[in-house]
Amino acid sequence: MIHIENLQKVYEDIPGRVPAIQQIHLHIDRGEIFGIIGHSGAGKSTLLRCVNLLERPSSGSITIDGEDMTSLNAKQLQVKRRKIGMIFQHFNLLSSSTVADNIAFPLRLAGMGQAEIAARIKELLELVGLQDHADKYPSQLSGGQKQRVGIARALANHPDVLLCDEATSALDPQTTNAILALLLDINWKLGITILLITHEMQVIRAICDRVAVMEKGLIVETGKVLDVFLQPQHPVTKDFVGQVSDFATSMTDDGPSVNSGNTQGTMIRITYIGAKTYEPILFETVKSTNVTFAIMQGTISSMKGVPYGQLVVQLSGAQQEEIDTVIAKLKQEGMDVEVITP
Ligand SMILES: Nc1ncnc2c1ncn2[C@@H]1O[C@H](COP(=O)(O)OP(=O)(O)OP(=O)(O)O)[C@@H](O)[C@H]1O
Ligand SMILES: [Mg+2]
Repeated sequence: MIHIENLQKVYEDIPGRVPAIQQIHLHIDRGEIFGIIGHSGAGKSTLLRCVNLLERPSSGSITIDGEDMTSLNAKQLQVKRRKIGMIFQHFNLLSSSTVADNIAFPLRLAGMGQAEIAARIKELLELVGLQDHADKYPSQLSGGQKQRVGIARALANHPDVLLCDEATSALDPQTTNAILALLLDINWKLGITILLITHEMQVIRAICDRVAVMEKGLIVETGKVLDVFLQPQHPVTKDFVGQVSDFATSMTDDGPSVNSGNTQGTMIRITYIGAKTYEPILFETVKSTNVTFAIMQGTISSMKGVPYGQLVVQLSGAQQEEIDTVIAKLKQEGMDVEVITP
């Protein structure tokens, strides 16, 4: 769907500047929600703006649906851009136009007739849940409602791709969740490929299939969200994963805890994914042995609707062999087990 090869962008405003992005290789599949995360100045917006050629790359190529973006002339580019919607952190709405007129804007540019525009606006307002706000001005809307208008406008010409530049960064956590749910809904209902950039790992975890981590203009790590989350490799990635605090939520106060009183033991981290998250596999595994366990930390969460959990558990027993047998059994059950302290 979107294929990026050896992309580089150097802003020539100051001679001898280092590239804002370089050596960018990415392939994004149709229907995928792909996230790019990085600190401020990492080059995220530059990369995103190169995708629809709001920024012309210095070298490298971007192909969307087999079409090389850099080879299009101005007219062809205009047509192609209709199929690439974009939403922004600060919404970029026309403040002197109503909600309906903001959404009508790209439709008029595409040459659509008045009656058709009215019908399409109605459809889009329903899709984003703003049926009753057509005649309001942006200043009369909340941040979340403004972003819904931004989304409706971006979807007006039935795009195949939606680019999101920090689309939820100006919103409170609750509104962020509502907007992310809307994006997920749009991805499922309309099959639109979404490329989003953010500096929040929660956003990546909530809706993305895959993620690329950027640092100083380079992609330093890329992979499926779950893999990157559970086994981050690069220090920047580890830093971002650490942002999501529920991995440190303690369950020791009210969680299941069975402790023999033997404080010496083996500390392990177990990762559950999918339906297994809700199965009492740990209990089933230890119950016929002399090994006991104490849950030190535990979380259950979900990633794009798939449950996953992590438990940090101390296994205790008279004999190390028994503990090793329990660990081996857990692995046999398909658990991802990491020994933290032997
Ligand atoms: N129009 C421009 N002219 C000159 N330099 C620019 C321009 N836009 C971005 N840069 C520089 O390119 C680098 C990458 O900027 P970019 O905006 O892509 O980062 P970002 O990851 O989106 O950061 P943020 O999270 O703050 O939005 C920075 O050093 C920035 O100063
Ligand atoms: Mg940016």
